[in-house]
Amino acid sequence: MMKIRPRRLRTSEQIRAMVRETNITVKDLIYPLFVVAGEHVREEIPSMPNCYHLSVENAVELAKKIASLGIPAVEVFGLPEYKDDIGSSAWDMKSPVQRAISAIKKAVPELVIVGDVCLCQYTNHGHCGKLCGNYVDNDETLKLLQKVAVSQAESGADIVAPSDMMDGRVAAIREALDVHKLHNVSIMSYAVKYASGYYAPFRDAADSAPQFGDRKQYQMDVANSREALKEVELDIAEGADIIMIKPALAYLDIVKEVRQKINNPVAVYNVSGEYAMVKAAAANGWIDEQRIVMENLTSMKRAGADIIITYHAIDAAEWIR
Ligand code: PBG
Ligand code: ZN
Repeated sequence: MMKIRPRRLRTSEQIRAMVRETNITVKDLIYPLFVVAGEHVREEIPSMPNCYHLSVENAVELAKKIASLGIPAVEVFGLPEYKDDIGSSAWDMKSPVQRAISAIKKAVPELVIVGDVCLCQYTNHGHCGKLCGNYVDNDETLKLLQKVAVSQAESGADIVAPSDMMDGRVAAIREALDVHKLHNVSIMSYAVKYASGYYAPFRDAADSAPQFGDRKQYQMDVANSREALKEVELDIAEGADIIMIKPALAYLDIVKEVRQKINNPVAVYNVSGEYAMVKAAAANGWIDEQRIVMENLTSMKRAGADIIITYHAIDAAEWIR
């Protein structure tokens, strides 16, 4: 006789719901937005179906919809009007990102705004910092990242999210924010960011591909996990409020390990390549999109993510309702 039968607790949806360990809610999600210059722009990004380049007023309209779905936050990325060797449009208060942040904050004050702090969308060479020859100069780049973070925070960002992977940037940004009396602006650090092939659609969308070489001198080697814990410890010591791991799906082992070792909130970035794969397979009728998206998001949360940055956020919010 079998005394223990795990199937007993699977006999009806009501029982399954009672014993379910992980539930995705809309409050777990952050939606990434791509803002561009101009007016009335709403152009679909080819490698990211149903994601758009939006001019500021259209970004505001979408932000209203996002808030009305109960999604708590957006992360703002921008395509600037000009690029140079140091990425100075990244801290220009008249650039699309800064204007979008302040317009969204004004129109939808309850929506949490995350600013992506990096230089690759703004430099003419596409690297995430200031070059010295072919090397990205770490400490010179920190000074520029400080300006970007302060400009976004002064525009109204609640959280700044450095994605450049320079050493010491969390401390540098924290210091600059505090000097400007922006003590309550949080830092969500892309603490564990791998040199991943999964960013390809984003680099088309953000026009941010490196013009030579790759990002392996600053982003992490995909083969390393102990190093992930080292990066996390450093960023927490430097003052990071939220720790992010990126990409998500292929790195859930890292998410689980980080979750067990720290007490800060953990975020994952479900990146463009992960999104594009799901959309492509769904468009071909090879998978059930809703089922796969919810399965992926649930797995990220089960692994330990408190926050999921995802291009599926709007669809997922509609399905969760
Ligand atoms: C830039 C940045 C990248 C992403 C977010 N910020 C890509 C990169 O390192 O080139 C990736 C987002 C995605 O793929 O969805 N620092
Ligand atoms: Zn970058």
